[in-house]
Amino acid sequence: MPACDFTVIGATGDLALRKLVPALYRREAENQLQPSSRIIGVSRSELDDDGYRAEVAQALREHIGADLDVVVATRLLDRISHLTLDGADPEGWHLLHNHLKVGDPAAVRVFYLAVAPALFGPICHRLDEIGVVDPTARVVLEKPIGRDIDSARAINDAVGEVFDEAQIFRIDHYLGKESVQNLLVTRFANTFLEPLWNSHWVDHVQITVAETLGVGERGDYYDTSGALRDMVQNHLLQLLCLVAMEPPTYVGRETVRDEKLKVLQALKPMTPADVDRDTVRGRYGQGLVDGVAVPSYTEDLGRPGSAAETFVAIRTEVQNWRWAGVPFYLRTGKRLDRKLSEIVVVFKEPPHSMFPHHEGVQTANRLHIQVQPDEGMQLHMTAKEPGPGGIRLRPVSLDLSYATAFDARMPDAYERLLMDVVRGNPTLFMRRDEVEAAWTWVEPILQRWAVTADRPKRYPAGTSGPIAATTLLERDGRTWQELPE
Ligand code: BG6
Repeated sequence: MPACDFTVIGATGDLALRKLVPALYRREAENQLQPSSRIIGVSRSELDDDGYRAEVAQALREHIGADLDVVVATRLLDRISHLTLDGADPEGWHLLHNHLKVGDPAAVRVFYLAVAPALFGPICHRLDEIGVVDPTARVVLEKPIGRDIDSARAINDAVGEVFDEAQIFRIDHYLGKESVQNLLVTRFANTFLEPLWNSHWVDHVQITVAETLGVGERGDYYDTSGALRDMVQNHLLQLLCLVAMEPPTYVGRETVRDEKLKVLQALKPMTPADVDRDTVRGRYGQGLVDGVAVPSYTEDLGRPGSAAETFVAIRTEVQNWRWAGVPFYLRTGKRLDRKLSEIVVVFKEPPHSMFPHHEGVQTANRLHIQVQPDEGMQLHMTAKEPGPGGIRLRPVSLDLSYATAFDARMPDAYERLLMDVVRGNPTLFMRRDEVEAAWTWVEPILQRWAVTADRPKRYPAGTSGPIAATTLLERDGRTWQELPE
């Protein structure tokens, strides 16, 4: 691992303190940060180094909790400094230049932009003006990259004027999750699945990312975004890509991304009629989550709110040789009845049933890939119930639980991704063409929703979403697979 000067712009924000700081702590604990590596927090807050260190220490206590090792925390805090700068104001940025100049000359410069996307272009230009972008420098962009195809292109153009594509790391943290990376291994390092992984044997695929949280403190951002932009354009489409993509020849920095791009390009384009028929938008009302009464979306927001949706369900298809005619159902929502991300591959029924008593086996014949929590996989099959009274069929499952199979802590996605940036490995980051292909597919949905008078359908918090999402599948003679408790 090379030494690095890791500059976090937006250093006092929620992302930096809740995700980046704990991830850096964990890597420090594994001795992955070189002795000369530094962490430079940049924010508008009037903080000196000690003031920022105090904020970081508080974040560590909150997010690492009882595991916190004071020696490791002190080592991390010793690397940290803070500069008060405003991304929207060119004043003072030479301070960052002065700061970087005195570090280890071999350190890789990483600029992590944990700020609103409107600032990506201006900040890159500031970095360019003060002369800190050398050929090995890297910039990390957090989603959302834009809010539609035009704004995404404009951001990519502006950042691209300063950094080459190979220097740009667009984060989709779902790609850093262990179970998501394991999808490729499961599919392509085992031979038994791949022959079945196509329209001959797969009836349909379901991808669910369910959350119990509401919009919380992020209402201002969320109300201009909604679930389609916040979750589907990136996380859910990336999961779909990994399920549907062809095997690359090897896992290289471009090969996996090339294959994912082909999937995005093969997604069935949405006509206005498709949008009306195949998409559902919902918004949570008051309800009970884990037995606790929670407010509605507009109450969380503290004002009437826009038309933003907090739930989306979509039926789509991947129009290529492997997947022709196989529906992919996507759904995601906030304030649902549980937090769970999973992929369910539902296989076709046997072509002929030899067993007359079929009751109780509807849940068989599918593979559940649980992304979080409790990472693992279950293959649901049908077995004979033991007993002398003839053949009775029962669903049973082969269970792979990561927690039991591997005696290891599951690292947070950011731990892997931050170290990949320092290593210069872009495999798990979104390339410009992927981001733009995803927006191109999403765009007609956004446009149609903007012209129809339909408001998102209300669902009570603590449920599985609006009824219309159930109808979306029932129409095709299918049902959402019960989420396991
Ligand atoms: C983020 C979204 O990208 O992902 C949030 O902006 C969402 O709205 C989060 O809550 C979900 O991530 P995870 O890792 O908790 O599933």
